[in-house]
This record gives sequence, structure tokens and C-alpha cells, in this order.
Amino acid sequence: MSINAQTSKTIPAAPGRSWFVTGASSGIGRELTLAALGRGDRVAAAARRTDGITDLAGRFPGRFLALELDVRDEEAVRGGVDRAVAEFGRLDVVANNAGYGLFGAVEEVSDAQARAVFDTNVFGALNVLRAVLPALRAQRSGHVLQGSSVYGQTAHPGVGLLSATKYALEGLSDALVAELAPLGVKVTLVEPGYTATSFLSNLAFAEPVADYDVTVRAVQGSLGDLPSEAFIDPAAVARAVLEVVDAERPPLRLTLGGQAEGDVRASLVARLRDLDEWGTVTRGVDRAPVAS
Ligand SMILES: NC(=O)c1ccc[n+]([C@@H]2O[C@H](COP(=O)([O-])OP(=O)(O)OC[C@H]3O[C@@H](n4cnc5c(N)ncnc54)[C@H](OP(=O)(O)O)[C@@H]3O)[C@@H](O)[C@H]2O)c1
Repeated sequence: MSINAQTSKTIPAAPGRSWFVTGASSGIGRELTLAALGRGDRVAAAARRTDGITDLAGRFPGRFLALELDVRDEEAVRGGVDRAVAEFGRLDVVANNAGYGLFGAVEEVSDAQARAVFDTNVFGALNVLRAVLPALRAQRSGHVLQGSSVYGQTAHPGVGLLSATKYALEGLSDALVAELAPLGVKVTLVEPGYTATSFLSNLAFAEPVADYDVTVRAVQGSLGDLPSEAFIDPAAVARAVLEVVDAERPPLRLTLGGQAEGDVRASLVARLRDLDEWGTVTRGVDRAPVAS
């Protein structure tokens, strides 16, 4: 049995899972939508433009709902979530996937560009969380998938602001997972490496400053030279996410791709090295020794 958030009426749960996926019109979100529908689940698929996925309603009758909404619009997100809960009776998996990239040195990025990328990647995700969590808490079940990135654990020249949005998602998810665990709701940060989607063609760019040519533009050039095999198939990301959704004890962080794994490991080792090398100074500020 499950609770319908709109009516507070108890209704029988249908077999299979009900998903709410943002950024479902393209790339990873689209593949996730297709994979979930393909295994018999129901999907409420949100994007600003859904004309490319509305045909799925005919292919998967009663199991697909297209929601045309902008994650930056809190009212629209709430309305979309209410429609999804009314249609499916419950939500089991919420993929907070909508997002875009911004490339440029930290100094090069304008205030408007920085705020805009946070509006979608962070405040959009928060809008979704505030809209879905009352239903998940009422059910005492559910799984939130946070659309992070390898850039949620690492950064290099040119991705400072993009990384800042993903680190923000990671930080709030470190708290969220502990807040939701006693309420039966799981959280996983999905951290793919470079994936073959429209992400690169949708990148926003900052106005270049020549001093950053040796760092930011050099990285931009090397990314542009990557062979197509360096990019993960978004369908493989979707398959990996399904594995995590099916797992009894899903990870908080799911890094995807060997390149991403190497980058994350290097970043973690560097953090530990700082702690080790500066441990005396770190502990030197304590009034009394802290037991380790
Ligand atoms: N591709 C990669 O290399 C990569 C790597 C790691 C992580 N990621 C993350 O994966 C997620 C999906 O990206 P992708 O690679 O699949 O890129 P994509 O093909 O460009 O898809 C982005 C999706 O987000 C939606 N979207 C963007 N802004 C939105 C807004 N304000 N409101 C609602 N929907 C919005 C887009 O649809 P509309 O434009 O119709 O709204 C689209 O469906 C992003 O969070 C990205 O940071 C991507």
C-alpha cells in the first residue's frame, strides 16, 4: 500500500517502480527513462522541452508521463511532482539529473553565468528535493539519485564553477543521506566521467582572458582532442544506475568510468596527503588532545 500525496488516500501499489526523472529529454536522463520503461517501470519524465519524448506515451501506455517544466521554477516542479504522484500513486526513484556545464577560468566566469549554473544545477535540484521528499517520507521508502559528476570530487582548470555546483550537491547529499536513512529513503550520488551526450554542445563559455590560455584553453584543447571511445555510452550509465537502484545497500557515491575512477582516487590521495603532512598543525590548534 502507498500514500497518495495529493489526496492522502491509501492506494494499492502497482508492481514495478515509479520514477521521477529530470533532464529526461536527452542524454543520461533519456537513457535512464528508456531503461526504466524497458524493464516495466513507470516514468514521469521532466524537461523544459519534451517534444522529443512524447512518443513514449504511445509505446508505454499508462507508464509514461511527460512533464514540461523548468527545474528552476519551484511551483512548476511541485505541480509536476503532484501530477506524477497522482498518476502513479507513489514515487520510488527520483533522478535529479537535469543540468548543464559551464567552461571558463573561475575569474573569467561572470556573476550572471555563475548564478545561472547554480540556479539549474543546485537550486533546481533543491526544488525537486523539497517537492518529492514529503511523499517519500510518508511512504518511508524511496531512492534519490543525485546527478553529480566526476567533477563532484575533482576539478581542473576551466571547470571551477561547474565543479562548484557538483561539490554543492555532494555536500548537501552527505547530510541528506544521514537525515533520510532513519526515514527509509536512500541517496546515491551518480558521478559519471565524460559521457557521450549533448552536454558538450550545450556547454556555456566564459569570456576568455589571455592569461588563462596556458591552463584553461590548453585543457579545452585536450578535451576537444579526445577520441569518441573516451566517452562513456549514456546507456551504460543507465544500466549501472539500475544496478544501484536494485541493490539492497546502494553506495552513497557511484563513480562511473575508469578515467573518472583514476581522477577521483588521485584527488582522494592528495587530500589524505595534505592531512598527513600537516597533521601536526591540524591538531596543534586543539586545546586538548582529541582521541583518534
Ligand atoms: N555528459 C557528461 O560528460 C556528464 C558527465 C558527468 C555528469 N553529467 C551530468 O549528467 C546530467 C545530464 O547531462 P547529459 O550529459 O545527459 O546532458 P544533456 O544531453 O545536455 O541533457 C541535459 C538534460 O537536462 C535538461 N535541462 C537542462 N536545463 C534544465 C532546466 N533548467 N530545467 C529542466 N531540465 C533542464 C535538458 O532538457 P531541456 O533542455 O529540454 O530542459 C536535458 O534533458 C547533468 O547534470 C550533467 O552535469 C554529464
